[in-house]
Amino acid sequence: MSGLPPEVAATLRARLALSQERGAIGPAGLDFHLAHAAAFAVIAGELKASIRRFVDLGSGGGLPGLVVAALLLGAHGVLLDGRVERARLLEEHVGALGWQERIEVVALRAEEAGRGPLRGAADLVVARGFAPPAVTAECAAPLLGVGGILVVSEPPESAPARRRWDDDVLRTLGLERRAVPETGWSFAAFCQVQNVPGRYPRRTGIPAKRPLF
Ligand SMILES: C[S@@+](CC[C@H](N)C(=O)[O-])C[C@H]1O[C@@H](n2cnc3c(N)ncnc32)[C@H](O)[C@@H]1O
Repeated sequence: MSGLPPEVAATLRARLALSQERGAIGPAGLDFHLAHAAAFAVIAGELKASIRRFVDLGSGGGLPGLVVAALLLGAHGVLLDGRVERARLLEEHVGALGWQERIEVVALRAEEAGRGPLRGAADLVVARGFAPPAVTAECAAPLLGVGGILVVSEPPESAPARRRWDDDVLRTLGLERRAVPETGWSFAAFCQVQNVPGRYPRRTGIPAKRPLF
């Protein structure tokens, strides 16, 4: 990944390789994963001038969150994952990179995080392979402050994003679609234009069991 100090790039790569060995990152080459994760930061940077706090929703082995953290050096970040063993591995990565001051690992279900101290605190939420669109939207919106941006990776050959995401329901969550700058990858992006109603997110597991769209 260009633009990073060589020692940061080397450590980041080594940590992501470890995640991959542990089965926390999919089988494609690391260059593919790094380039894809970097596109989140590129899109976010084009849609929002200043990003002070981001959340990686369902960070797993650290993607895209660790790459976003490397590229947005001034930002504080939360790597959120409901699986405790994933969170432990992420903590080791953050320690190895020396980022403990600005990157926090939170082992919590997103539905709980959205009702707790992370509510409304982020100006960027990134999500890669987290959940279907309705679950992602319901879990992400409560984490965003007004004016915040949600950037979600889409399957490469999916139906057009317009059909996968229901604009009317998104509006009830305070989310509005944004045009995605071209990166060569498939993404959807949304802006939190007003506060999400207090009833969202619903209880843990309900967003997936009874999706909003
Ligand atoms: C398919 S993995 C993707 C991981 C990573 N973002 C990537 O692209 O490699 C989805 C991750 O989201 C986490 N996850 C799924 N639903 C969650 C929820 N409701 N709250 C917190 N974490 C969740 C899982 O534990 C898992 O680590």
